[in-house]
Amino acid sequence: MFKGTAAHLCLYWRAVYLLAAGVALPSESLWLCPPSCRCNAAALEANCSGAQLSAVPDGLPQDAELLNLTHNTIKTLVNQQFHKLTQLLHLDLSDNLLALIEAEAFLGLQNLLTLRLSRNHLRIISVGVFAGLTNLQLLDISSNKILVLLDFTFTDLGSLQVFLADNNDFVFISNQAFAGLSGLQRLDLDGSNLTVVPTEALTQLIVLKSLHIHQLDLNLLPNYSFYPLLHLKELVVAHFPRLETLSGNSLFGLNLTSLSIKHCNLKEVPYTALHHLVYLVSIDLSFNPITHIHGNLLGDLLRLQEFHLVGGSLASIETGAFKGLGYLSVLNVSRNLLTTLEAGSFHSVVTLKSLGLDNNPLACDCRLLWVARRRLYVNFGGCLPTCMTSTQLQGWNFLEFSEDELPSLLTCRQARIVDQRPQDVRVSQGHSVVFYCSSEGDPQPSVSWLNPQLRQVSPVGRIRALSNGSLEVRYAQPHDSGTYICVASNAAGNESLRVSLHVQALPSSPKKRYRLKGWPAFPSSPPGVDGDEKLPFDVKTLLIAATIGFVSFFGSVSVCFVFMFFWSKGKGQIKHTATIAYVPRSAMSNSNTGTSNYMETSRFTMKLL
Ligand SMILES: *[C@@H]1O[C@H](CO)[C@@H](O)[C@H](O)[C@H]1NC(C)=O
Ligand SMILES: *[C@@H]1O[C@H](CO)[C@@H](O)[C@H](O)[C@H]1NC(C)=O
Ligand SMILES: *[C@@H]1O[C@H](CO)[C@@H](O)[C@H](O)[C@H]1NC(C)=O
Ligand SMILES: *[C@@H]1O[C@H](CO)[C@@H](O)[C@H](O)[C@H]1NC(C)=O
Ligand SMILES: *[C@@H]1O[C@H](CO)[C@@H](O)[C@H](O)[C@H]1NC(C)=O
Ligand SMILES: *[C@@H]1O[C@H](CO)[C@@H](O)[C@H](O)[C@H]1NC(C)=O
Ligand SMILES: *[C@@H]1O[C@H](CO)[C@@H](O)[C@H](O)[C@H]1NC(C)=O
Ligand SMILES: *[C@@H]1O[C@H](CO)[C@@H](O)[C@H](O)[C@H]1NC(C)=O
Repeated sequence: MFKGTAAHLCLYWRAVYLLAAGVALPSESLWLCPPSCRCNAAALEANCSGAQLSAVPDGLPQDAELLNLTHNTIKTLVNQQFHKLTQLLHLDLSDNLLALIEAEAFLGLQNLLTLRLSRNHLRIISVGVFAGLTNLQLLDISSNKILVLLDFTFTDLGSLQVFLADNNDFVFISNQAFAGLSGLQRLDLDGSNLTVVPTEALTQLIVLKSLHIHQLDLNLLPNYSFYPLLHLKELVVAHFPRLETLSGNSLFGLNLTSLSIKHCNLKEVPYTALHHLVYLVSIDLSFNPITHIHGNLLGDLLRLQEFHLVGGSLASIETGAFKGLGYLSVLNVSRNLLTTLEAGSFHSVVTLKSLGLDNNPLACDCRLLWVARRRLYVNFGGCLPTCMTSTQLQGWNFLEFSEDELPSLLTCRQARIVDQRPQDVRVSQGHSVVFYCSSEGDPQPSVSWLNPQLRQVSPVGRIRALSNGSLEVRYAQPHDSGTYICVASNAAGNESLRVSLHVQALPSSPKKRYRLKGWPAFPSSPPGVDGDEKLPFDVKTLLIAATIGFVSFFGSVSVCFVFMFFWSKGKGQIKHTATIAYVPRSAMSNSNTGTSNYMETSRFTMKLL
């Protein structure tokens, strides 16, 4: 009896307490909390991280807003596992051993904003797992072993903004996998075993702003790969170890402000694929074996502010490479093979605020004077450029030298042509000639040749500029005559040399004109081929003549067929085959003599339409 009263009393007080608690702030003592968890009633948090749990514990506080179950050994989540925790906003199940999540496991969590499932052992996510999570904004399933994403898996997640699915083993992403994700703004995906960009699946993501796509096994990014993503601003393509080429239209439809193509196998800046991205602000092509940035090919990227190409194989940034880029303020080309970076590569060096040029084998000469002069305005990222070629300046530091000292330290010697003796050469037609032009200077001058029409001579062809500076004219022709100019130039200036060539035409002898003595074999025939062995007509002409003959023959035959076809149609009689006898000329001439050999004629049988 007394016992009963005591129990009653206890219950009574408890009820009063509960009532009081209902109006007061919830206190920790009231909160149910599984023994292995640490609950913070004020913050509405239940921290069960690292509690050696092999299943979701019972008796979790029902008004918790955050439940942290990380670093446990939970293997499965059953249907409606969390249905009592209707106030939950954040659920973290990372770093468990989850291999199975039953359908509707999260049903009832209609307020949930973030759900983290990374670093588990998931291989498959069945359709319906995420049912009911209509307010979810962030879903993290990264670092699992998921193989496929099936149609309509995420269909309830209309509020989802961030979806992290990188570091999985995707082999297949179905076309409707992302159906319903109509609010998604950021997607991180990598498909270590995917061989195509899941373009069709991406069409669902109509408001996507940021896409990170890693580890695809393909060597060519096809045309229209991201075509539907009209609102995409940031695209990161990284760790495509075989990717060598971006098709000209691969980025078509995009209007990006930031593009990264890192850790791939590009050997060229993809100029064509980029040129329409006129709103691009930042581009990062780091860790690609790109060797050159060519002149005047990036001018369309009017708004570009940042260009990064760290850890490549850059040997040169040509003059005019960044021409037209009036806002370029960050250039990071550290860890390349550059020997210099000339002011002429930039639209204007005044806009440059940050320059990564360290870890390049730089030649410290007058070409880098501009860098030294702008040292107070440019941030070198804590790593100053150092000299590799001059022992005097090995490991130099700009900041140590005064403005007055610099011009005498960073010097060049103007290009000079060493041997200025006149070269006037007279040869007869067909002979070969070499003109010399050896130059010196610091840096080593580049040599180019201009022909009498003042056009630059190319390194290939009958008349060519050799890599050692000489000019070679093979099988000289009278019209090659004139003055050729050698120009040796470097950063400090140029010098030129004029040479002249006079080619004497060979007297033409009409009786030799039709003598077939051999075929001219330009350009591999040995030097000194006599001009009189040049033929008035050649194999090519004969072949063309013969071909025209055949073409006109078959042309006539076709015209006949077409005529017959319409004629038969007109007549209304449909004849399905026609046989045409073609009597070769030999047979025809035989027939003239009355000994026609009909067996020699050829036949064409043709089916009519
Ligand atoms: C949760 O508990 C773990 C383990 O005791 C602790 O390391 C961690 O700091 C806690 N987290 C919070 C947010 O209290
Ligand atoms: C859960 O706890 C772990 C370990 O304390 C922590 O790293 C993680 O950020 C927590 N998760 C959330 C959502 O607070
Ligand atoms: C995916 O590729 C990785 C290596 O890239 C390989 O180890 C793994 O077995 C592949 N997975 C499948 C399912 O093919
Ligand atoms: C991509 O489109 C361009 C321009 O239409 C075309 O020249 C090119 O051949 C296409 N490339 C591929 C791989 O289809
Ligand atoms: C491209 O993006 C810029 C801003 O990033 C925007 O001002 C411009 O209107 C967009 N152009 C088109 C055609 O969507
Ligand atoms: C260039 O990039 C490298 C690597 O990302 C970084 O360490 C360095 O600070 C950058 N330099 C500048 C000047 O931004
Ligand atoms: C340059 O090369 C050509 C062909 O190899 C040679 O004939 C010429 O003598 C060379 N010139 C010099 C200056 O060595
Ligand atoms: C050579 O130098 C002169 C000025 O000294 C300059 O006007 C000219 O454009 C230069 N020519 C070349 C080909 O660099």
